[in-house]
Amino acid sequence: MVKVVIVTGSVGTGKTTVAKRLAKKNKAKYLDVNKVIEDYKLCEGYDEKRKCEIIDVRKLSKVLIKIIKDSKEGLVIDSHMSHFLPPKYVDLCIVTKCGIKKLRNRLKKRGYSKDKIQENVDAELFDVCLNEAKEIGHKIKVVYT
Ligand SMILES: Nc1ncnc2c1ncn2[C@@H]1O[C@H](COP(=O)(O)OP(=O)(O)OP(=O)(O)O)[C@@H](O)[C@H]1O
Ligand SMILES: [Mg+2]
Repeated sequence: MVKVVIVTGSVGTGKTTVAKRLAKKNKAKYLDVNKVIEDYKLCEGYDEKRKCEIIDVRKLSKVLIKIIKDSKEGLVIDSHMSHFLPPKYVDLCIVTKCGIKKLRNRLKKRGYSKDKIQENVDAELFDVCLNEAKEIGHKIKVVYT
């Protein structure tokens, strides 16, 4: 099987930046999971309260596993849901992290609402992605952006 690196982390912590850089450096394919969600119609609605799409991560994982199995080149997978992939398909899980002040500024710049900023800042404070990735059993490397 090809080499697979996943890049997860809270919203705005630098996943896309890191994943694209890594893919280029290693001549691997950059996989944008948002595009996969669109292509495979995996969005199951919109959460008005949290202002985000509703995604079934089990369905997403199934699609990602198929893409991994079919891929002829190494993959760098960019998504805060990528760590739900079983570790047997993943060589390395990169978790991006960023200081809280900096993160707040980045999210403000995007024009997010106060609530949305706070929710994402909380996710970073509590290391939600990092803890989930650890629990699932990935080999982890933390990258500070
Ligand atoms: N290493 C870095 N140094 C400085 N700024 C960075 C770094 N990485 C990312 N940034 C900045 O932080 C912002 C968010 O980065 P990026 O879009 O890569 O995050 P993301 O985790 O992919 O966000 P999302 O969860 O919304 O997809 C961008 O404006 C980017 O320029
Ligand atoms: Mg991104």
